[in-house]
Amino acid sequence: METGKVEVPLSSAYRLLHPRLVVLVSCVDEAGKANVITLAWSMPVSINPPIVAISIAPKRYSHQLIEKTKEFVVNIPTMDIVRETLFCGRRSGKTCDKFKETRLTPLPAKMVQPPIIKECVAHLECKLHKQITVGDHTLFIGRVLTAYADDGVFDDKFDLKKVKPIYHMGGDDFVTLVPEIVSPRL
Ligand SMILES: Cc1cc2nc3c(=O)[nH]c(=O)nc-3n(C[C@H](O)[C@H](O)[C@H](O)COP(=O)(O)O)c2cc1C
Repeated sequence: METGKVEVPLSSAYRLLHPRLVVLVSCVDEAGKANVITLAWSMPVSINPPIVAISIAPKRYSHQLIEKTKEFVVNIPTMDIVRETLFCGRRSGKTCDKFKETRLTPLPAKMVQPPIIKECVAHLECKLHKQITVGDHTLFIGRVLTAYADDGVFDDKFDLKKVKPIYHMGGDDFVTLVPEIVSPRL
């Protein structure tokens, strides 16, 4: 039967789940030196207690930092810093200081060692709850200790007239959302 469906290679099946919200995760080494990694693979997994998960390949420098120091901050960047966001996803903290190179500003977090990123609009401070190897990535599951956003951009939902979140299509391509909200009545 002709279904009108075409096969997608299994190696790119995950792209059917894109575009995905991009986050900048900050972490530290044992001496307290900060690094930042760009991630498209993050998700909330529990409301109460508040828990989020991020998926990081073992070869990333940030993987070894989070495994050792067991803390991270999920920062939400916007289109204002899309270049810096791509940079942090294409260079490794093993060989460069991404805060210095991008001029993103580290500010002290409230409850964890890794800094928050000033230019981001929201921050979730997390303590590692559990890590699970899943195929070629590690799922770092983090308990959210505290979360906060820039004044005036978030009132239980982001105000998309003020905030342009970054979504990753694939490769070097990003999109954002237009504030056309649909609320079906059931
Ligand atoms: C838009 C974008 C999204 C990315 N998402 C992920 C991801 O979800 N998981 C991952 O392991 N790497 C992801 N990467 C790749 C890492 O960000 C990249 O390898 C980075 O240089 C690792 O930095 P580090 O070695 O300092 O940890 C992504 C890269 C980009 C540009």
